[in-house]
Amino acid sequence: MHINYLCDLWQSTHFLVIMNHMDLRSRYEWLKQEVHYHNYRYHVLDAPIISDAEYDRLVKELKQIEAEHPDWVTPDSPSQRVGGRPLDRFEKVRHPAPVLSLANAFTADDVYAWFDRIRKLDERVERAALVVEPKIDGLSVVLHYREGLFVQGATRGDGDAGEDITANLRTVRSLPLRIPLPRSSEDVATAPPPALPSYLVVRGEAFIPIRDFEALNRKLREAGEKTYLNPRNTAAGSLRQLDPKLTASRPITLLVYQIVYAEGGEIPPTQWQTLNYLRTLGFPITDLARRFDTLEAAIAYAQEWEARRDELPFEADGMVIKIDDLALAAALGVVGKDPRSAIAFKFAAREVTTLLHDIGVNVGRTGVLTPYAVLEPVEIGGVIVERATLHNFDYIAEKDIRIGDRVLVKRAGDVIPYVIGPVIEARTGQEHVYHPPSTCPACGQPVEHFEGEVAWYCVNAACPAQLMRNVEHFVSRGAMDIVGMGAKIVEKLIEAGKIHHVADLYTLTRADILEAITKKDRKTDKQPPGKLADNLLAAIEQSKRQPLARLITALGIRGVGEVMAADLARAYPDLDALSRATVEELQQIEGIGPNTAASIVDWFKREANQQVLQKLKAAGVWPKGETPKQEGPLSGLTFVITGALPSFTREQAKAFIESHGGKVSDSVSKNTAYLVVGENPGSKLEKAQRLGVKIIGEEELKRLVT
Ligand code: IVH
Repeated sequence: MHINYLCDLWQSTHFLVIMNHMDLRSRYEWLKQEVHYHNYRYHVLDAPIISDAEYDRLVKELKQIEAEHPDWVTPDSPSQRVGGRPLDRFEKVRHPAPVLSLANAFTADDVYAWFDRIRKLDERVERAALVVEPKIDGLSVVLHYREGLFVQGATRGDGDAGEDITANLRTVRSLPLRIPLPRSSEDVATAPPPALPSYLVVRGEAFIPIRDFEALNRKLREAGEKTYLNPRNTAAGSLRQLDPKLTASRPITLLVYQIVYAEGGEIPPTQWQTLNYLRTLGFPITDLARRFDTLEAAIAYAQEWEARRDELPFEADGMVIKIDDLALAAALGVVGKDPRSAIAFKFAAREVTTLLHDIGVNVGRTGVLTPYAVLEPVEIGGVIVERATLHNFDYIAEKDIRIGDRVLVKRAGDVIPYVIGPVIEARTGQEHVYHPPSTCPACGQPVEHFEGEVAWYCVNAACPAQLMRNVEHFVSRGAMDIVGMGAKIVEKLIEAGKIHHVADLYTLTRADILEAITKKDRKTDKQPPGKLADNLLAAIEQSKRQPLARLITALGIRGVGEVMAADLARAYPDLDALSRATVEELQQIEGIGPNTAASIVDWFKREANQQVLQKLKAAGVWPKGETPKQEGPLSGLTFVITGALPSFTREQAKAFIESHGGKVSDSVSKNTAYLVVGENPGSKLEKAQRLGVKIIGEEELKRLVT
């Protein structure tokens, strides 16, 4: 009976469906693991081993399966980082153990004094090893894992209870949703992680790396939006607002450094081992931590990083020195909220006051006007500062910054120095209120303001300041990389009327360049002017061979940076094809939203830009996109398309076929696998029929890949 039943089942289609399901299910589990793993390689280790396109394909497949089987989706799926609607408020979370703060030391003597105090309390301190870590200036967060699953995340709050910011923290890509990190088939080298506590609460610092912060501000500035003041407030503000979608759009990352609480499992006995243990679980851990046997060595290491603080990829306000032995650390106890076992050795503050002589205005590439402070030169941490950003005109008004004020200026990391605000007590009555200009300081045309934006714009397309920025951007390293085309030469060439738009770079003569090389350049440069001009001409010539992605970057389309330019260059064979793209079509590309799509279409629609393109083309600056060879169900098959397809444009059909591994050719031959036919086909149809090539429509084409 039993056997019969199985035989029946075996033959039934029902069983086959179950079999397929099981295959799909294990494929799904595999995909989840792969995506987690590659996410980890990218966001935690900063060492990806697959391309963005390959990663996107895995995510796409994962999402497809989840769309068909919503009941399979678990909260630790990599697709579940951003979900849900904005909250009304944050709930309070009690921490399972106090989340402590740190006492400060400002000099090496302060650190010795601290060590003396604790040495008297416990003689083990004398020989205790120390761990030194950077003290990141971000937002302290507490992360709860139950049975390896990220279940809750909170702010530090008052140390006893914080706010539940779980939904926001989930969007932080370097935060593991599950620990230990599901390992990939590719990852055979690492040892299996040790037994995990069933309940583990860790602590770390969430922050925005300086480079990402600057890129974010650049993007906002170009879009006429308000820029952020500093990385710390931006990270804290983005995590402590109620809409996870906004958090997800901010480049927040995380470094974890402490186990706050553990239940049902062993945890390491030292700080040094804790860091390594947390690393094996898949948490992001600083690679700047070091362990020392003496206090002298620990202090020297902290001082080394003070001297090199501009090299730190994040804002740090000091180095933390910690007793390595956690049992000893606990025995030393707490004063108020500060553990005796650790001390923050603070870097010298980089805030000074100086006089605001004047307010100048810069005109950006997109015409955005940005005010800057002209300061009485002042040294901040070894650098003389005489200019600082004032963000935007609203900021000047909000902070009531007046010309003649004594102002507080901050320089942090590599971030451009900025004015924090006026020192009101220092006012003499001689200061005067600043009024934003009503005309562009570069071209004198009236400035404009757009609804919903904070920025003021110069909308004059012929404004020399904008042209200057445009050319600077066009020749810059990430774009056409024309070495030697410095700001001074560009300025002279514009002044002399030799450059009216970027395409004019390609018609410059040796005489034009010689004339533009200023007297000062001639004196300071080691090379004779003739040689300089020849080198520059050679660099211009060479730039004609830059790939399409760089040319797209160089055009300076609002919202299109290097990464997006590379995506566009993969999707479109050249600038002719890209200029025909529609807003809908562009949005098919991962990462391009309606605003950027509209900005691209708008750029290509403008007559002046079309003229620039024609001139670039005439000058031979017309690279073809390299469509990468993809593996897929259509690998090895060549397609020819004829007639108008019902939903795909030609470009889309081509991109579709290529993204699944196929090739598209213009003419039918015996090597053609399929002719894809739409309405009003041409002579290709006849030829295909003659050669016996398979003929299909758009629908069949789509079915070939499923
Ligand atoms: S240890 C008992 N380590 O600094 C543990 N704190 O001013 C006490 N911080 O609230 C904290 N990096 O948010 C520690 N490597 C690090 C840190 C760090 C940043 C923050 C933390 C703390 C604040 C104290």
